[in-house]
Amino acid sequence: MKIFFLTFLLILTLLFSGCEKESDKIVIGFFGALTGTEATFGVSSRNGITLALEELNSEGGLLGKKVELKTYDTLGSLEETKLSVERLIKTDDVVAVIGEVASSRSLVAAPIAQSHRIPMVTPSSTNPEITQVGDYIFRVCFIDPFQGEVMAKFAFHSLKLKKAAVLRDTQSQYSVGLANYFIKTFTSLGGTILADENYISGDVEFQSQLLKIRKKKPEFIFVPGYYSEVAMISRQSKDLGFTGPLMGGDGWDDLKNLSAIAGDSINGSYFSNHYTLENPDPEVQKFITVFEKRFGVKPDSQAALGYDAARIIFDAIRRAKSIENQKIRDALSETKDFKGITGTISINQNRDAVKPAVVLQVKKNNFSFVETVGP
Ligand code: PHE
Repeated sequence: MKIFFLTFLLILTLLFSGCEKESDKIVIGFFGALTGTEATFGVSSRNGITLALEELNSEGGLLGKKVELKTYDTLGSLEETKLSVERLIKTDDVVAVIGEVASSRSLVAAPIAQSHRIPMVTPSSTNPEITQVGDYIFRVCFIDPFQGEVMAKFAFHSLKLKKAAVLRDTQSQYSVGLANYFIKTFTSLGGTILADENYISGDVEFQSQLLKIRKKKPEFIFVPGYYSEVAMISRQSKDLGFTGPLMGGDGWDDLKNLSAIAGDSINGSYFSNHYTLENPDPEVQKFITVFEKRFGVKPDSQAALGYDAARIIFDAIRRAKSIENQKIRDALSETKDFKGITGTISINQNRDAVKPAVVLQVKKNNFSFVETVGP
């Protein structure tokens, strides 16, 4: 009898210490496309977040606790994004979530995080509407009205180009928004839009749109899409004899896949981005070295933004001295002059980060720095 009682006590003690161990750590969630045509986005961001987390935990964690990352693959789907965020909040008991990369999916996630009052930081979704969903939604990247303006001014002033065509993905809120912001600035400067054509995510044939565009003889085509489609559009436009450059935004950032599909056709084209490997800042160079050593590839902008997103959350928790959601939210909103890899981050009253963009040119299938444009 006594032995039974002792065993019972032992089990209780073990159970209890198990529970205590659970609350001994802080869990942060990440949801992103780890598979599909935008897999680079999720994998890179997750790697950036993982590096930030490993560095933090090796220095003792946060508020005396280890920090753990719980990750879900959104498969690049809206439905799976919804399920991922719900799981993170309801089952995994996260104190904050990081995600998604793509704007359309962040727009699905934001209302869920907001309704549960769980701070959400998107590392890289640039559509302005996301943070307007509510006071728990933040980002560490610039927004598309700025990005569109950067490329319009670059084309008009730096390259002296006056005649553009636009080819946008109507299924992506990012692409539609960025196309509109680009057109707004470009036409206000005195440029003309000769054609405005559409495609949808997953398309592989762009001939009919490109033929219509070619007939209008634009000097360049603005393609604010994601790398998989952009690469095919680039190749097919050259096959049809279009000789001008393509231009676009941060969605182009996957050098490997862009080059693999587009080949030589993409050389000479330009896009705006969050960061460049050529930044001589010692802290940026240190990040690049450490990241490459850890993951075997150089960090792209999603990796750098993932790293920054995780670190502004750590910084907020440290300042809040608490993992209470409202306190984390308040601390996040007070983020000022945080030295990130993608620039100095200050969160404004819209919960957006105000920071510069870089213009890159694809040269010899490499991204080559052209200029930095301040906000
Ligand atoms: N800005 C894009 C969007 O909002 C996502 C993206 C960011 C893609 C950075 C590549 C690099 O959908």
